[in-house]
Amino acid sequence: MKVKFLDLGMQPIANNFLSDHDQISREYMYHLTVCFDSETKLVSLGEFVPPDMMFNDSYVYHSSLSNTMKSHFSNVAQALKKEFNPFSVLEIGSNDGVFICHFDKHATVAVEPCGNFAKITNDMGYKTYDKFWNNQIAKEIVENHGKQDLIYSANCMCHIQNLNEAFQSISNVLSDDGVFIFEDPSLLKMIERGSYDQIYDEHAHIFSITAIQNLLNSLGLAVFRVAKLSVHGGSNRIFVSRIGSRDIEPSVSDHLDRENNAGLNEISAYKNFALRVEQSKNQLIDLLSEIKRKGYKVVSYGATSKSTTVFNYCEINTDLIDYIVDITPNKQGRLSPGMHIPVVSPDEGFNDSVDYAFLGAWNFENEIVNKEKRFVKRGRFISHVPYVRFI
Ligand code: TYD
Repeated sequence: MKVKFLDLGMQPIANNFLSDHDQISREYMYHLTVCFDSETKLVSLGEFVPPDMMFNDSYVYHSSLSNTMKSHFSNVAQALKKEFNPFSVLEIGSNDGVFICHFDKHATVAVEPCGNFAKITNDMGYKTYDKFWNNQIAKEIVENHGKQDLIYSANCMCHIQNLNEAFQSISNVLSDDGVFIFEDPSLLKMIERGSYDQIYDEHAHIFSITAIQNLLNSLGLAVFRVAKLSVHGGSNRIFVSRIGSRDIEPSVSDHLDRENNAGLNEISAYKNFALRVEQSKNQLIDLLSEIKRKGYKVVSYGATSKSTTVFNYCEINTDLIDYIVDITPNKQGRLSPGMHIPVVSPDEGFNDSVDYAFLGAWNFENEIVNKEKRFVKRGRFISHVPYVRFI
């Protein structure tokens, strides 16, 4: 039975930065709610947005723009090569090639539904199918490239609405003793840190290991290792093989125990989380209003999908935030989804006139605070994770 536990109100598409009046007048809104399935333990959105409205040729998120993510993907690629020595590699959701660029072009294939990004990796020489991951593309890959020894996917599985089909298709492509490794934001971390802004249209599900294990086991697959990651505000890297083909490592039961102890298998933990989310909203509005009343200039740093959720849920617009700075060229010169706050480059907007900066990209706190030493001497960053505070 699915129980709704959180209502974040009407929301726009989190990465749909707008460039003109026509786009503003046609802006798509949907009701962002979150449900807990008491049987499978899966946490999912109450309403899904049609995938091609989120992932298309104008997608803006570039993994390679952050040094943290560049070294993250380089490290995982080296470690996987060393441990599994795969003959063939498939990446699902290859973005700008930040992971596959570490593998041999002739032994690698990728699937990426955003045409602008599929073009980048095709141009780099990596065969990339400009398609959504499903049964049909899985068949095509087996026909054209054979079964795959290593299937990797980062921040993509949680985007897929029909998980049964997604995992079944992976099983169909995986070689008999192959490994499937995927990483996505951790439900436990989100609940612990109160980071409700992990919830937006693209994140159709926020995974617990418990829910993933339930799903995979029913398809003949097993989780044999789980590694905690610090990226994206706390993620899990989940290692999967066919049931019986590898020993299950202690990290799996460790994670299952931790989730159970945190109450993630019961609805009450989620209801409690919802109360904390409401408090966080009130505290953030109070803090920003107080600073504004005193006449200070406040901007936001990082035009993230996460901040789309925060701003729309808290109804924070240009009354409280003058503009957002972000290094992504495709976001600059546009308006943020829903609240229509202008986005400019840090070179243009992050100058001595800024007194406070809400850290929309709080998951890159170290990288950004280190980069903006000059600002830190004078102004203050504000974060709402794990509670509303000055950094
Ligand atoms: P991320 O937190 O990965 O986004 P999302 O919530 O959409 O998954 O995105 C970080 C955003 O912050 C991205 O638009 C790039 C921007 N950014 C900067 O502007 N400066 C920086 O130094 C860094 C690291 C990121």
